[in-house]
Amino acid sequence: MADKIRVLLSEEEVNQRISEVAEVISKDYEGKEVHLICILKGGVFFTCELAKRLTVPVSLDFMSVSSYGDDTKSSGVVRIVKDLDEPLQDKDVLIVEDIIDSGRTLSYLIEVLKQRGPKSIRLCTLLDKPERRVKKQVHVDYTCFTIPDEFVVGYGLDYAQKYRNLPYIGVVEL
Ligand code: IMP
Ligand code: MG
Repeated sequence: MADKIRVLLSEEEVNQRISEVAEVISKDYEGKEVHLICILKGGVFFTCELAKRLTVPVSLDFMSVSSYGDDTKSSGVVRIVKDLDEPLQDKDVLIVEDIIDSGRTLSYLIEVLKQRGPKSIRLCTLLDKPERRVKKQVHVDYTCFTIPDEFVVGYGLDYAQKYRNLPYIGVVEL
């Protein structure tokens, strides 16, 4: 049977907010090129919508990571399942993520990517759940929406690999 999904952020709200954030990013990177790193799979829808709205030159690369262990046992070490195609040397890197939850994935990833010599490295997320943060040192430069501690789907986010294609952000009512 299909799950019931309550709309948290409508397609219009999400798209409107992405346009606003893209405008801020375009201003901040004026005169530069921005190298977007999309964190697969969840970040893919947001990355495309964001990239289309940026007015500075954009290049794109993709990375896929998975956490070791379950949430309670996580050491904060993530495994790189698919690495980037391009080097980061001297690039202005902007990591694009679907959601920052505990912050474990990003705190590890930022350290790994810093070793590759980018000129700068910033973080942009569609959603942030600050109540769930374990890694308090993760600094998010651009956030579209801060949301309460609820499990959300859509716009790239999944529940058991389903619902990534929903054009809005919803909560699965179990
Ligand atoms: P973190 O390392 O705890 O910040 O993990 C973030 C990752 O957990 C995200 O990239 C998502 O893949 C997943 N995640 C966290 N919260 C949610 C949610 O509400 N819905 C779907 N996936 C989530
Ligand atoms: Mg993710």
